[in-house]
Amino acid sequence: MLQALVVGVGLTCVQGCSSDRTDSLRFDKDNFNVMHQSVRTSDGTIDVEYKAFLHIPYVSRPLDTDYQSLSIFEPILVGGKPVDASKVPILFSNRVGGYMPVNDSTTEDVGEPGGTQRESLALAAGMVVVVPGCRGRINQTDEGVYIGKAPAALVDLKAAVRYLRHNKGVIPGDTEKIISVGCSAGGAISAAIAASGNSPLFEPYLKEIGAADERDDFFAAGVFSPIMDIQHGDMAYEWELGEVPLTKTGKLVDQELSAELKALFVEYEASLNLQGINGFGTLTADNLGDYIATYWLNPAASLYLSGLPETERTEYLKDKAWLNWDGNAAHMTMKDYNSHYSGRFKALPAFDKFDLSEAENSLFGDASHSGRHMTEFSIRHTGEGSIDPDFQQVIDMMNPLYYVVDTLNPGAAKHWWIRHGTTESGISRAAMVNFSTALAGHGLDVDSKLFWEAMHCVDKDPEGFVAWIQEITK
Ligand code: DHB
Repeated sequence: MLQALVVGVGLTCVQGCSSDRTDSLRFDKDNFNVMHQSVRTSDGTIDVEYKAFLHIPYVSRPLDTDYQSLSIFEPILVGGKPVDASKVPILFSNRVGGYMPVNDSTTEDVGEPGGTQRESLALAAGMVVVVPGCRGRINQTDEGVYIGKAPAALVDLKAAVRYLRHNKGVIPGDTEKIISVGCSAGGAISAAIAASGNSPLFEPYLKEIGAADERDDFFAAGVFSPIMDIQHGDMAYEWELGEVPLTKTGKLVDQELSAELKALFVEYEASLNLQGINGFGTLTADNLGDYIATYWLNPAASLYLSGLPETERTEYLKDKAWLNWDGNAAHMTMKDYNSHYSGRFKALPAFDKFDLSEAENSLFGDASHSGRHMTEFSIRHTGEGSIDPDFQQVIDMMNPLYYVVDTLNPGAAKHWWIRHGTTESGISRAAMVNFSTALAGHGLDVDSKLFWEAMHCVDKDPEGFVAWIQEITK
């Protein structure tokens, strides 16, 4: 009692002051700016008036509050009508790209620029939008110690969710309906935090930064162009794109090394023991191409082609003999698709570069190393690095698949919207297909598709995503 009183009047706490920690995580509902935005939707433009609560530190022992802060956007008037946002879904939109940090002190607004159209559309649909900052792979102290390497971004975002729950009923929105979303590295991170909800693996990390003692699970997740399952990314990339020339040079990568990685993928895919949807059977490296063509590539092409006016469709198909259109549906094999692919964007190995030059090497650095190898393949070929059990645990923690293959993490989100483009080669499509299949195998609600003719992070259906949130939360 005395302690609470002392903390309450702002004096320094001397010992055992857990209440000082919780109090510093109280949300101030009176500290906001009122902002306006005209949001373009297919139903016309909607004017939105909203409160912006900017730059709120979400942990009590931050390493850097520029990053470990979040911003909340609460609709007040949508199309001139008052909104009661106390019980609406919360879109938790991470803006991570390239596994870089997100500096919340530069967050000025919801939506574009800086964020996505999805954010504005969610706001215009009456939802609360939370934009969290988080550490990333280049954060350093003044002494040069790295403080944002894996799994820091996940730890911070979980702490941000705990902050929201800690302020349940005071912050706007329903803290039982938090939907994670992100694209690319942010897509993988969205998947990882939503798959790993309440995982005890993060507990020591969360304690260290003074996260609120709350649950950190999500209701649902939007996952766009996820650069995920990185430790198997090199093998999957060669399985899919090993015989596709590099965009930059027009040349094939080293075919011997490519074949070596492809062989590793055969083992890996078998080890997952995934059962394909619709009774497809056990997925293997041999049948995975058919599986992806049947349930992802052909439906994506069909939707695209059926939406084109006749003359445009004829023009589009003119030089694509490999893409068979029967008047209703597209038919192609994955081999056909890949043999007409414009080029692979990443050289070999796609992620664990021998010279440690890739973003993912940097992600998996540690306090004193800017980058490290995270695969046995690259360690063997360079003679450098090693993976001890602690490091392996960190690599696994970053991987959304880790929480859903075999046993499902009990705190995993129940609803999933997963999208990737067909004209991008940031990662093999096998990653999102394996992940979607594992989720579906556990009976979760999974809406997983490819967007035909979509580059990296292009969202061809942002309104569909927002409508999906409305549907699953109603
Ligand atoms: C991103 C893209 C990549 O190709 C990659 O390897 C990692 C991250 C990104 O855009 O976030």
